[in-house]
Amino acid sequence: MTTKTFTIAIDGPAAAGKGTLSRRIAEQYGFHHLDTGLTYRATAKALLEAGLPLDDEAVAEKIAREVELGGLDRDMLSQHEIGEAASKIAVMPAVRRALVEAQRRFSEKAPGTVLDGRDIGTVVCPDAPVKLYVTASPEVRARRRYDEIVSRGATADLDAIFEDVKRRDERDMGRADSPLKPAVDAHLLDTSEMSIEAAFQAAQSIIDAVLSRNA
Ligand code: C5P
Repeated sequence: MTTKTFTIAIDGPAAAGKGTLSRRIAEQYGFHHLDTGLTYRATAKALLEAGLPLDDEAVAEKIAREVELGGLDRDMLSQHEIGEAASKIAVMPAVRRALVEAQRRFSEKAPGTVLDGRDIGTVVCPDAPVKLYVTASPEVRARRRYDEIVSRGATADLDAIFEDVKRRDERDMGRADSPLKPAVDAHLLDTSEMSIEAAFQAAQSIIDAVLSRNA
């Protein structure tokens, strides 16, 4: 390969385990990691905090162009309302264009990058040498999110989380611009009955095979 960087594209629905998997992969290979969901969340948070409307595409695009990729922190952006607002502004083509430009610039960092989101293998980095599509049934994903909230000592409603997971899927898979779907050349990893460790092992063998071919 002649390019100086190596990109791993990881897509999948909310709570499928792609965040944890992406962080582990980035750590293992010494690559930079970008959780692209945070770019949509940061845009949504800035709009909410400024009291700006969530349905004005020009305003949302302007805010999206001001998002700094360096300072994104999931703990500060994890609130439910931010996630909901993020998936609403994520249907806007101008917002997507602005964030995709920043994500592509990030993907070029040497020696390599891991980007996770919904459209990395299909739109942001269609030439990535490794593409993974990480999924799990809506029931399993809702249960994981529930367990995670409860383990932090908070209370949660499993049925409400399940409805939320399904609503988010419909919005992400049903939108016209860059809907969530596996790239044709993506490796599918269904984590419904797989531990994160097993998913990591599977991902590692896929990545190592491509790296040794490109060496
Ligand atoms: O992954 P996370 O739940 O943080 O993403 C928040 C929302 O941002 C998603 O529901 C989705 O609508 C949007 N998103 C997107 N494209 C990406 C990453 C996230 O549309 N690459």
